[in-house]
Amino acid sequence: MKRLRIAIDGPGGAGKSTIARRVARALGIAYLDTGAMYRAAGLAAARQGLEPQDEAEIEALLETLDLTVVFDEEGQDICLDGERLGDQIRTPEASRWASDISRLPACRHKMVALQRRLASGQDLVMDGRDIGSYVLPDAEIKIYLDASLEERARRRLKQERELDPQATLESVARDLAWRDRQDSERELAPLVCTPEHHRLDSTANTADETTAAVLAWIYSQYPERIRSDQETGGANGG
Ligand code: DC
Repeated sequence: MKRLRIAIDGPGGAGKSTIARRVARALGIAYLDTGAMYRAAGLAAARQGLEPQDEAEIEALLETLDLTVVFDEEGQDICLDGERLGDQIRTPEASRWASDISRLPACRHKMVALQRRLASGQDLVMDGRDIGSYVLPDAEIKIYLDASLEERARRRLKQERELDPQATLESVARDLAWRDRQDSERELAPLVCTPEHHRLDSTANTADETTAAVLAWIYSQYPERIRSDQETGGANGG
């Protein structure tokens, strides 16, 4: 079968990781959440007591950063110096740090090299901001997943409430809007919907509906990838 690398790009809270994970399961291929890698790098810098403007210190830290991606039944986890990070990278502070650190060329070069290495030997779904435009410009499928700021904030609030009881719809929307602007306006590999991306708006759709729409697009381009229910354990059904 021909290679299949699927890029899912879009702003925070659009549902990329939920959809990417389900699409990967339905197709029986790997899933890589690239945002988690920037989040882990940001957490490492925060743990050192650094500030986003301490660029020289962050660059020095990145040179020795021992960051690996672990794949298991749960999906993916990031290890920093051998420690599994789990949900520690999901706090609002980690989100801001991820966006800040991802602007630094030294950080992007390190992460992109690792992402390309992980994509080189296998079919996979990769989600992020610059996957179709920069990391895997030859990806066979490129999806841009969007949703209104209000809906994205509603979804994010549900996830963040468990980690931060103080979070409100307004605070989450403000953080998302700030990150959208910073991620889209940065110089190196910004968030962009290229003419090659198939754009989907998930504002009015459930995760099941959006997954089905993404799979329908992939199958329309690569019919040989359609798998039976037996192969997918029903993952193609919804
Ligand atoms: O997808 P996420 O919310 O976990 O991403 C966190 C931050 O990481 C995001 O605000 C920008 C950065 N990022 C990036 O620059 N490039 C990617 N491919 C993925 C994430």
